[in-house]
Amino acid sequence: MLVTIVLALMGVCGPASCDWVEVWRDDFNGSSLNLNNWKFETGGGGWGNNELEYYTNDQNVDVSNGALTITVKVENNGGQSYTSSRLNSIPAWTYGYFQARAKLPKGQDLWPAIWLYPQSDTYGGWAASGEIDIMEYRGQVVNTTEGTLWYGAQSPNQVSMGSGDTAFFYDFSADYHVFGMQWTNTSISWLVDGQQYYTININQNLSNGAPYTANGQPFDKPFYWVLNVAVGGDYFPANVYGPPVTTTQASQWPQPYLQIDYVSVSQWQNNGPQRNLQRFRPRNFQ
Ligand SMILES: *[C@@H]1O[C@H](CO)[C@@H](O)[C@H](O)[C@H]1NC(C)=O
Ligand SMILES: *[C@@H]1O[C@H](CO)[C@@H](O)[C@H](O)[C@H]1NC(C)=O
Ligand SMILES: *[C@@H]1O[C@H](CO)[C@@H](O)[C@H](O)[C@H]1NC(C)=O
Ligand SMILES: *[C@@H]1O[C@H](CO)[C@@H](O)[C@H](O)[C@H]1NC(C)=O
Repeated sequence: MLVTIVLALMGVCGPASCDWVEVWRDDFNGSSLNLNNWKFETGGGGWGNNELEYYTNDQNVDVSNGALTITVKVENNGGQSYTSSRLNSIPAWTYGYFQARAKLPKGQDLWPAIWLYPQSDTYGGWAASGEIDIMEYRGQVVNTTEGTLWYGAQSPNQVSMGSGDTAFFYDFSADYHVFGMQWTNTSISWLVDGQQYYTININQNLSNGAPYTANGQPFDKPFYWVLNVAVGGDYFPANVYGPPVTTTQASQWPQPYLQIDYVSVSQWQNNGPQRNLQRFRPRNFQ
């Protein structure tokens, strides 16, 4: 106890003196989406990536048995041949440990994403104010995930860096896994089931044509969750993934839905220095 207090006074984390403390969570335990936590982002038109889905208000979302399910349907709406949903969290946070326990869809050209978007265009329109992708994946390659940062000049001159497709010995469509991202004022790290697989130092000039005035910008402002399943588009270049899925093929999708057991946000206790991230590295981290 005394050691803990002394270490805390010194600004050093001792046993139990510093930790991630959960500040927000949605377990999706009820029988409907909690509209105090989430709002629907609707529409089609490709979302800048030539995507094929139209996002509806609520007919593609179900909350039951302790999970949120976003289901892609083959149906005409808004000039598109597929419907899906895209949810934005109403609260937003700066820094923290963001986790989503999810089971991913399976099927050609399904593109689930768990990511964060800036609450305000402080540094300009996309991607000048940033974007943090926690999990992206393709429904025909069930054992990879990737984490990405977008920033720099506005579209079409945005830049990105990230893990790229990272293979795991898992079929992410078969079981739930926790997709995590730890964000401090100096680094952003990506984790699967608590295992860190990629880190980016953000204590650097990320300007690339954006009006940033300090290191770490634009990743120093509040960001909110985005949960969605897209269909097709530029994430599936034909030279790698073949021709785009047809509605006939799509009617055979084995698992056209993303299931999320919970999402949570933890923040570093007392806003103290977040210096001992390595504590959370698992023993088998490579
Ligand atoms: C909601 O579900 C989680 C497990 O996902 C459980 O730990 C928690 O107690 C449940 N909360 C309520 C209010 O039922
Ligand atoms: C991932 O799946 C591909 C085939 O889809 C396989 O070639 C690769 O070895 C798998 N990687 C791991 C780490 O299981
Ligand atoms: C970041 O680099 C740009 C040039 O790419 C420069 O104009 C800007 O002043 C730098 N910002 C900081 C905070 O050093
Ligand atoms: C990060 O935050 C800590 C604690 O608030 C502060 O001491 C440190 O100077 C910050 N570092 C940067 C690079 O902003």
